[in-house]
Amino acid sequence: MAVLLSVKAVDAGYGPVHILNQVQLEIQAGQRLAVLGRNGVGKTTLLKAIMGLADVSGGQISWQGQDMARWSPRERAMAGLGYVPQTRDIFPSLSVAENLVAGLKGRPRRCIDEAYELFPRLWQRRDNPGTALSGGEQQMLSVARTLLGQPRLLLLDEPLEGLAPIICQELMQALGRLARDQSVAMVLVEQKTDAALRFAEQALILERGTVVYEGQSARLQSHPEVLQKHVGLSAH
Ligand SMILES: Nc1ncnc2c1ncn2[C@@H]1O[C@H](COP(=O)(O)OP(=O)(O)OP(=O)(O)O)[C@@H](O)[C@H]1O
Ligand SMILES: [Mg+2]
Repeated sequence: MAVLLSVKAVDAGYGPVHILNQVQLEIQAGQRLAVLGRNGVGKTTLLKAIMGLADVSGGQISWQGQDMARWSPRERAMAGLGYVPQTRDIFPSLSVAENLVAGLKGRPRRCIDEAYELFPRLWQRRDNPGTALSGGEQQMLSVARTLLGQPRLLLLDEPLEGLAPIICQELMQALGRLARDQSVAMVLVEQKTDAALRFAEQALILERGTVVYEGQSARLQSHPEVLQKHVGLSAH
């Protein structure tokens, strides 16, 4: 299978602050990877480094074989990388429909129907401003808007944070359908370990900016002591 994203021996951080050490990973088309780890270990920084939003001081990040070092975040998005940040960056004063239009990247307006198909809740709220949405609806809007740009790889930073179990399920099912039907690859950063391991076939654990585990999710699920040691939670 074709390698979409390759991260090789990457050191990254913010200016003089060094966060990631020698991080390696590879994502193939349609593959799903869970990124786990305690608070502050560098999970968000890893996604930011991939998007060109953190400073990479060593190693190489490439997209379909091309070094992205000189690419702006916008160029990365245009090339097929979609990023849903931990902060759910929707436009609060715009309606749901207007927020979706902002994600179209020049595609025709009618394409926003794809978002309503994926999340029927957004159709019911289409005229509401971003401020009038619940946390779960904001998260759906943030994911849906990114998806309208037709990414080949979606980077999701704790999409389930603060959501009720039923909404988590709805969101994960929508993402699962998308991964299956359209072969969108995904990197899922998540504190909800069990949901993340069920969703992604591969998992990676970060500890203080270093990858301390990489392998099949199923293996981690059957070794709760590894999760306990590095993440501090069991898979159940
Ligand atoms: N803009 C920044 N400038 C300097 N240091 C930062 C910046 N953003 C984050 N950090 C630091 O980098 C480290 C890793 O942060 P990061 O946000 O990547 O962790 P995380 O694993 O995503 O944590 P969480 O689970 O709490 O979201 C932390 O020590 C944090 O304080
Ligand atoms: Mg984070």
